[in-house]
Amino acid sequence: MFNRILVTGGAGFIGSNFIRYVLINFPESFIVNLDLLTYAGSLENIKDLPSQKNYHFVEGDIRDEELVKNLLREHGLNTIVHFAAESHVDRSILGPRAFVQTNIIGTFSLLEAARKVWLDEKKLGDGEVRFHHISTDEVYGTLAPNDSAFEETTPYAPNSPYAASKASSDLLVRSYMHTYGLPTTLTNCTNNYGPYQFPEKLVPLMIMNALEGKDLPIYGDGRQIRDWLYVEDHCTAIWQVLQEGRTGESYCIGGNNQPTNLEIVDTLCAILDELHPNADGKPYALQKKLVTDRPGHDRRYAMKIDKIKNELGWQPKYTLKDGLLKTVQWYLAQKNWIEAIRKEKNYQSWVEKNYTNRTEAEK
Ligand code: NAD
Ligand code: TYD
Repeated sequence: MFNRILVTGGAGFIGSNFIRYVLINFPESFIVNLDLLTYAGSLENIKDLPSQKNYHFVEGDIRDEELVKNLLREHGLNTIVHFAAESHVDRSILGPRAFVQTNIIGTFSLLEAARKVWLDEKKLGDGEVRFHHISTDEVYGTLAPNDSAFEETTPYAPNSPYAASKASSDLLVRSYMHTYGLPTTLTNCTNNYGPYQFPEKLVPLMIMNALEGKDLPIYGDGRQIRDWLYVEDHCTAIWQVLQEGRTGESYCIGGNNQPTNLEIVDTLCAILDELHPNADGKPYALQKKLVTDRPGHDRRYAMKIDKIKNELGWQPKYTLKDGLLKTVQWYLAQKNWIEAIRKEKNYQSWVEKNYTNRTEAEK
């Protein structure tokens, strides 16, 4: 079983959900969480873990190859689940260098550590060790309205510096499998949402801005389409691919939905109107504001999930409506988390940088 795991980026959104999911459902596992605690990572995300005895946190950089090699040796780890990344497209537009450093050089460094310790020193192979790389649908580029959805064989065509850096890391993983025989698996997933997501991404940003009476900034015409997956469903898919997926394969993961951004924001507003109505009774949707579009904004993502469904029997458990409801409920109940994250991570300076010069778009 692949259950002595180095999780990278486990203080971030999906990584922290994954650690919680594993410690609750597979308590015989042992996890070392290596995280640099950048603006996106926080100890707040992992402070209430169900068990500390089979969990160990290390503050450090995935680019520190010696550190990673020592962690693999010291703890006898047989699995890497690699989440650590710069993950926000807008930040990659305003500052792409960190994306190359973390997503490309960082993944390269991790692969080197795994190759040297697992293959060269310990002579371990398929069935004994596993490098699982977490990636995104954005590596496939963008779709026109009637194009068929992305699948594992779709050619890579990344459009943002973020997507290009993730595509590069995917290709490095592939090359280590083919060249050195490093046992790898890879998952490309659609947009995640749910608890512990840093409030720079669409869903938590809209919830927080709505509650604070601020504008809800919608890029361009708001008719861009994404496929959305509740984070817990992503965690179950990763675990299944890790344990049952075929070595060397990639699997596409998604939520089987196609809402526009406007539909997402309208749904969130309607849920908030119901659960936490504005004091003056005004619908939250009145706060929506179309603003200047994101440069190079991908129009549509969609994912076929036939491979993971047919091979492993995985499919999403949560509908978009249920998942968004659970998410709003979580954020409404987490005032302390929100305050801590905002104070700790210079959230306001990002908001000013990204939104101040976005004038209202023409309607
Ligand atoms: P996130 O930005 O919330 O968290 C990233 C974590 O990585 C943070 O805890 C950060 O401190 C850590 N980190 C950054 N640089 C590091 C370094 N050099 N060394 C160690 N740790 C470092 O990201 P997320 O949304 O949880 O995404 C996790 C992974 O999933 C990423 O690889 C991302 O590309 C991928 N992904 C995300 C989504 C999504 O919708 N969020 C969808 C598909 C795939
Ligand atoms: P985001 O959560 O940044 O994810 P990604 O760019 O990886 O898909 O954005 C989701 C969609 O929402 C995307 O089309 C951009 C749009 N968006 C807005 O319209 N306004 C915003 O303030 C943000 C953050 C995103």
